[in-house]
Amino acid sequence: MTRKSLAIPVLVLAVAISSAAIGAAAMSGPTRQDLLAAMKDEAFSHLRYKMFAGQARKNGNVPLAELFEKVADAEFNKHFKEQAELAGLVRGDKENLAAAISDEYLETMKMYADMSKRAEAAGDDAVARHFAAAAEDEGEHHKAFKAMLAKKSGDASN
Ligand SMILES: [Fe+2]
Ligand SMILES: [Fe+2]
Repeated sequence: MTRKSLAIPVLVLAVAISSAAIGAAAMSGPTRQDLLAAMKDEAFSHLRYKMFAGQARKNGNVPLAELFEKVADAEFNKHFKEQAELAGLVRGDKENLAAAISDEYLETMKMYADMSKRAEAAGDDAVARHFAAAAEDEGEHHKAFKAMLAKKSGDASN
């Protein structure tokens, strides 16, 4: 079977697993979606402020670097973690592995593949190349997680 012919059934399965992985707690669909959007925003802020802090440190602006680091940590340790708890983001190892396999699959087969095509069509070649390379990396992450799943399924302790 070719990689392409596997895409649709596995994609359906991946979406099903991904939806199940977020929101173990009972709540409305829109609230769950808002939590997911909030976590994505907090994660982005956390990483962006870390990078801003690095830039400020490079410029010798230590007070600004420390402020960015402090706020970056709050975005993660307070907001992201509380939202993750409310959403039931982190579950047992098996469920976490299934969620990671699903996400990496979607990133490699759909998200980055589509983004690369769109960037190429728009003439944004450097971005298209980056997305294509990222798609390959995500494929490797997907394979590594799948290999771990296969290894763990033969492990009586799991
Ligand atoms: Fe925040
Ligand atoms: Fe990845």
